[in-house]
Amino acid sequence: MNNLHRTLIAFVAAAALALPASLVERVPATVPHGSNPFEGNPQARQAGKKLYERECSACHGKNREGIGKAPPLNQPEVYSAPASTLFWILRNGSLRRGMPSFAHLPEPQRWQIVAFLRAQAVYNEHDSHQGGN
Ligand code: HEC
Repeated sequence: MNNLHRTLIAFVAAAALALPASLVERVPATVPHGSNPFEGNPQARQAGKKLYERECSACHGKNREGIGKAPPLNQPEVYSAPASTLFWILRNGSLRRGMPSFAHLPEPQRWQIVAFLRAQAVYNEHDSHQGGN
């Protein structure tokens, strides 16, 4: 192995260590800001909640509280993230870290999930009115 290779490897290793911890922060800045066709649509949020329960809750928890390596989703970093960022995460996942891709779901369903995730603040309030959490 020559010196150039060694330098490159050290550089790549350092870059990997410098990665921000959370996936939301690691989404490329080039993601287009396509707006969610369902933003603010209550039916879509409700559909997204059902999809969440079916597709995501086994890892992220019934109340989005996070389990083990799967981070909580009921935190501002997630519900305040741009819709395009969350959509990117659902399409690409984070395969090496255990977050699957949901590209197999039809696009409208993925946008419904995004609408649900971003309505988190509203749902928090709703849950506490019901004595949940
Ligand atoms: C098999 C387990 C698993 C399933 C199922 C799963 N996730 Fe994840 N998810 C993870 C893991 C592990 C991470 C952390 C990945 C990382 O750090 O790169 C993650 C990260 C995320 C993040 C980024 C959170 C942050 O703070 O950066 C979001 C958003 C997310 N998942 C949403 C979802 C949604 C929505 C679904 C359902 C459509 C889902 N996930 C299904 C395991 C899962």
